[in-house]
Amino acid sequence: MTPATSLFAPVEADLRILADNLKQLVGNRHPILFIAAEHLFGAGGKRIRPAIVLLISRATMLDQDITARHRRLAEITEMIHTASLVHDDVVDESEVRRGVPTVHSLFGNRIAILAGDFLFAQSSWYLANLDNLEVVKLLSEVIMDLATGEIQQGSNRFDTSISIETYIQKSYYKTASLVANSAKAAGILSEVSKDVAEHLYAYGRHLGIAFQIVDDILDFTSTAETLGKPVGSDLKSGNLTAPVLFALAEKPYLEVLIERKFAQTGDLEQALDLVQASQGIQKARDLAAHHTKLAIDHLAVLPPSESHQTLINIAEYGLSRLY
Ligand code: IPE
Ligand code: IPE
Ligand code: MG
Ligand code: MG
Repeated sequence: MTPATSLFAPVEADLRILADNLKQLVGNRHPILFIAAEHLFGAGGKRIRPAIVLLISRATMLDQDITARHRRLAEITEMIHTASLVHDDVVDESEVRRGVPTVHSLFGNRIAILAGDFLFAQSSWYLANLDNLEVVKLLSEVIMDLATGEIQQGSNRFDTSISIETYIQKSYYKTASLVANSAKAAGILSEVSKDVAEHLYAYGRHLGIAFQIVDDILDFTSTAETLGKPVGSDLKSGNLTAPVLFALAEKPYLEVLIERKFAQTGDLEQALDLVQASQGIQKARDLAAHHTKLAIDHLAVLPPSESHQTLINIAEYGLSRLY
């Protein structure tokens, strides 16, 4: 499930340092959190977000080494992401994540909520200690956006009238905001121009949206073994993602099944079959490819380098997970 390590080649050594630091940073205070941290940061996360932060750091610091603040930003980014997953797994009642049992399934909801809160709080503290107000603003907005995204998703459950635009907006809040704002923050720590910073933001935004669409497609097409987390649960829980929203336009009966929340025996299976029989998955793939292309276009502002090329490869890797 973890991508070939060579995908992140220019920052592989950086990512090893990051993995050690994360366990230490989080594990320091509470024994319970130490267990949760070992569990979370020892397990098989793909570390795509910190890799992007480190690659942008390197791609914008070609003549110099990256700074301790760039590294800390990458750590904060993974900490925020992991905190959101701990809470998300409570909301989604998911039992497995990164190939291992989730925090709440091992320690209960109470500990999982507290562990997630602690990770968010701690990431804010490390963030403030970067002593860069602009970066603090960018990443604290992300924490708000994550909550906004989960709330939007929760309140739109089983609502067949939501548009693709609403879905994209929710995906921005839940997923792309972190990638976009941390990408921009990495550029700001390298003191890039305003224009370059905006292109880095746009790269992260489109990449994040594409990444969420791909993740939503894989929920229909992949296996728990491959992903290290359960599949097939989005539709069941009323989370209507790109493949379903596209399928709805083609298969009106899908709406009936969803509106009655799959109350009758066989409803869910029938709904899944309708999605498979529609163009929904293909259309969602096309949408992900569109955002991937836009993401890559925005990288053109960076001078050529191995890290720059790797940022392109990561965008393409996201899509390649579909085939
Ligand atoms: C999972 O993100 C949540 C989504 C935004 C789809 P990742 O797929 O990056 O999760 P890890 O960090 O590799 O576990
Ligand atoms: C992941 O959301 C959590 C966040 C991005 C906050 P999802 O529920 O869509 O993703 P998985 O399938 O649990 O990783
Ligand atoms: Mg989930
Ligand atoms: Mg969720």
